[in-house]
Amino acid sequence: MSAVAETRTLELLRRYEEKTPGSRALAERARQILPNGVTHVGRYLEPYSLYVSHAAGSHKWDVDGNEYIDYFGGHGALILGHCYPAVLEAVASQIGLGAHYGASHELEVRWAEQICSMIPSAQKLRFTVTGTEATHLAMRVARAFTGKRRVVRFAGHFHGWHDHVSFPMGGAPGIVPGITDDTTIVAPNDLEAVERALEAGDVALVMIEPTGATFGQIPTRGETLRALRELTSAYGTLLMFDEVIAGFRCSRGGAQGFYGVTPDLTSLAKIIAGGYPGAALAGRADVLSVLDYRRNDGKIQAPLVPHQGTYNAGPVSAAAGLATLKVLNETDAIARANHVAAGLRDGMNEVLRRKNLGWCVYGEFSDFHIYMGGDVTPGRPEEIYEAKVPWSRLKGATPAEQIHQLRVALLCEGVDIVGWPGGITSAVHTDEDVQRTVAAFAAAVEL
Ligand SMILES: Cc1ncc(COP(=O)(O)O)c(C=O)c1O
Repeated sequence: MSAVAETRTLELLRRYEEKTPGSRALAERARQILPNGVTHVGRYLEPYSLYVSHAAGSHKWDVDGNEYIDYFGGHGALILGHCYPAVLEAVASQIGLGAHYGASHELEVRWAEQICSMIPSAQKLRFTVTGTEATHLAMRVARAFTGKRRVVRFAGHFHGWHDHVSFPMGGAPGIVPGITDDTTIVAPNDLEAVERALEAGDVALVMIEPTGATFGQIPTRGETLRALRELTSAYGTLLMFDEVIAGFRCSRGGAQGFYGVTPDLTSLAKIIAGGYPGAALAGRADVLSVLDYRRNDGKIQAPLVPHQGTYNAGPVSAAAGLATLKVLNETDAIARANHVAAGLRDGMNEVLRRKNLGWCVYGEFSDFHIYMGGDVTPGRPEEIYEAKVPWSRLKGATPAEQIHQLRVALLCEGVDIVGWPGGITSAVHTDEDVQRTVAAFAAAVEL
């Protein structure tokens, strides 16, 4: 690091520490009892994470009383922002009626009906609590339905942290080798590699983030999804769209509604529960029938795939989810979130053009991804969509130190972004938020 860069880094750390002494003190306590002091790898930040005391709309406040424009958006769950009135009212009216009935309840039926009325592939669904569980269930259901064992997925696409999806090519510590043997990982958008894998005839499921890895950080186009649909149908393999983030951000019908491609299965989480814990595996009724109890000779037989889960379809999550989905269905909230993100991308790119850093900001929906340069420098965001930047440069290639520095610089300016690096917008971010964020970005890239 040059002497000038080192001085700037020290100055930045000094500003951050001066502004956030309460977070620093909590981080010191947390490090004694929580690995790295955090509860999710995505919340790790050097020198320490921010401790938030409350949030409202598009903003949140740390324990020292500093205000931030929030682009974490509850890891993407909060398309209506924090404490949206209709969601708060739904939660408040449910919370006094009980947290858990250990029984079926009307809200879960209404919640499922609402989702199935919006998501084209959703003939039926099974609730889970997390997106991780939904993708895990999808793999088990697909294997049981097809009688095949292999799963094909795309490098860089995120499907949660269970053993079947949380390893790159070649495996990872803690993952049983037999699991990696039954998984084929192909390069993003590589349809020829998918077809080669399908030709063996043993593939139960192809799974994909339909917008491309991490909500479009490595973009995928509609024609790729259409070709995948044709390929999987031709080989008798099920296709799953992982719409844990994309669902209800691309359109009311999710990415599948936007691109007009209907998969066999869809994993949903985040927005479907309005910021509370809740997720689902939705899809074709015949495929999901492996979850059904059956009758044989008048006797009840266990499902092919028994599925439990203490907190499935919790009534408070159901209330929050139903309220959120109704707002999305009846208003222009999705378009507003998209509009805000487009304004941010334009404004940040204008800053970058003046600075000539070789960075660029891109995205298509209520998102922005910051490409922080490297050996390939796209002149325009469009070049990323024209695949002029190799996919391996788009995700995970920027040194963590550089990303942490940008995040801390933005926090000093009152803006919280995600460490992809990038962010997620909501329907309640305002034009003023956009202007303030672009000004903060201009100041941060000076540092
Ligand atoms: C596309 C995708 N799939 C699955 C998951 C896992 O969901 P959860 O964190 O609810 O387990 C995520 C979480 O970010 C995701 O973005």
